[in-house]
Amino acid sequence: MKIGVPIEIKNNENRVGMTPSGVFELTKRNHTVYIQKNAGYNSGFLDEDYKEVGAIILDTIEEVYAAAEMIVKVKEPIEPEYKLIREDQVVFTYFHFASSEVLTRAMMDSKAVCIAYETVEDPDGSLPLLIPMSEVAGRMSVQQGAKYLEKPIMGRGILLGGVPGVPPAKVLVLGAGVVGIQAAKMAAGLGANVFIMDINMKQLRYVSDIMPNNVISEFSSEYNIRKHIKDSDLIIGGVLIKGAKAPKLITRDMLKEMQPGTVMVDVAVDQGGCFETTVPTTHQDPTYIIDDVVHYSVANMPGAVPYTSTMALTNVTLPYVVKLAEMGWKKACKKNPSLAKGLNIVKGKIVYPEIAEAFDMNLETV
Ligand SMILES: NC(=O)c1ccc[n+]([C@@H]2O[C@H](COP(=O)([O-])OP(=O)(O)OC[C@H]3O[C@@H](n4cnc5c(N)ncnc54)[C@H](O)[C@@H]3O)[C@@H](O)[C@H]2O)c1
Repeated sequence: MKIGVPIEIKNNENRVGMTPSGVFELTKRNHTVYIQKNAGYNSGFLDEDYKEVGAIILDTIEEVYAAAEMIVKVKEPIEPEYKLIREDQVVFTYFHFASSEVLTRAMMDSKAVCIAYETVEDPDGSLPLLIPMSEVAGRMSVQQGAKYLEKPIMGRGILLGGVPGVPPAKVLVLGAGVVGIQAAKMAAGLGANVFIMDINMKQLRYVSDIMPNNVISEFSSEYNIRKHIKDSDLIIGGVLIKGAKAPKLITRDMLKEMQPGTVMVDVAVDQGGCFETTVPTTHQDPTYIIDDVVHYSVANMPGAVPYTSTMALTNVTLPYVVKLAEMGWKKACKKNPSLAKGLNIVKGKIVYPEIAEAFDMNLETV
């Protein structure tokens, strides 16, 4: 199969859909891989690295789309790419269709086969192509929180781990899922006193079993949250109710209860945020302050660490890319129900229920 990897043109997206290691796996199976010039540069991969393992470097995005039977990328196509996508071409990437009718209609019009990373689903209901990005964001939330706790950027001026003779900071983590566990682990590793909350007892039991002694699990309730926010230095929001808006666990009135300079990192911002005062921010201008509380709510946190994020993402997408290349989309989806869940729009038809529902359109079958 001919596989194309274009450069990501969405603002501030530095990841790339395939690493040289991915190209190696495909070319050794006799597939042809076209990489757009400099596509991997911001993730630390040079054109020479790709060439060495057999990729063909093309100068323009138009050439990549024209040459490929399957496009592998990271973010959803944006307007200038719509006209480049052809009938029958497979596009394997994050789409998040339900949040954009314009994109949905453009992909229907293209008659392409759109397989969305975010809806590939394992039998236990987990989303294997989303987990790595939650892992990145969870770990990064502590790094960002630690930074914004510094005084010159309006934080409380406290070191997460303290020093001998001076107590460490207190970190409150809301949600003990992928984000929460990674955040708690990082904060604990730095020596902070960590409290992690969830409403799912299974998760709390797991956390309690695996975490070090400086991580304490507690059931998530308004009473408990109100108790802890008073002396927490860093609060991390990582809750998710699948398919729904995040519950507002920290309300506006609670900010007044906090110490000035408390930092709140709302990782759940992409689901509307779990703090009432959350407004999405960007890496250019990541924070704002309300009632002396520093808010950090960047919606694409992994974009700031493309070296790590590209590797984490492509580690999990590559096995599916190989299946698609070896068998073609129809057979690959038939043989692999997890991948079949990724089918969103096929040759003009919406085949994923939530997308049809979101725009009141017909749900069809492949
Ligand atoms: N900002 C970013 O760049 C970025 C990156 C990756 C993920 N995310 C987002 O982070 C959020 C969390 O993702 P995840 O992968 O950890 O999800 P997850 O499903 O693994 O974990 C969410 C946890 O929240 C818990 N929860 C639900 N209601 C709760 C409540 N009232 N109190 C406490 N806990 C509650 C659930 O029981 C679950 O354990 C999602 O919204 C995801 O989209 C954001």
